[in-house]
Amino acid sequence: PTVVYIDHEETEHVVDVPNGDNLMQAALDNGVPSILGDCGGACACATCHVFVDPAWAEKVGPPSETEAEMLEGLIDPEPTSRLCCQIFMSDELDGVKVRLPESQF
Ligand code: FES
Repeated sequence: PTVVYIDHEETEHVVDVPNGDNLMQAALDNGVPSILGDCGGACACATCHVFVDPAWAEKVGPPSETEAEMLEGLIDPEPTSRLCCQIFMSDELDGVKVRLPESQF
């Protein structure tokens, strides 16, 4: 399945992501800009912030309580904000779109 990462300049980065992989690691492995993943996917750094496209928000689902607390500390959270190390690929999410916050560049 594929993920479409859209950076703040509206450039689309389309990446094939194996099922079960998280969207932070997939971005790093494929050179998608602005996803840093400083904590290695432990939900502890919030440098993998993305805005899930509202059309996909329901399928992607809400953040866990720990993740929601991390999101509250960001300077630019939106209703569909997620830490993408906590989003795991599945066939259901094929074609999912996430936007990358300008503040993370
Ligand atoms: Fe650190 Fe996602 S990589 S919170």
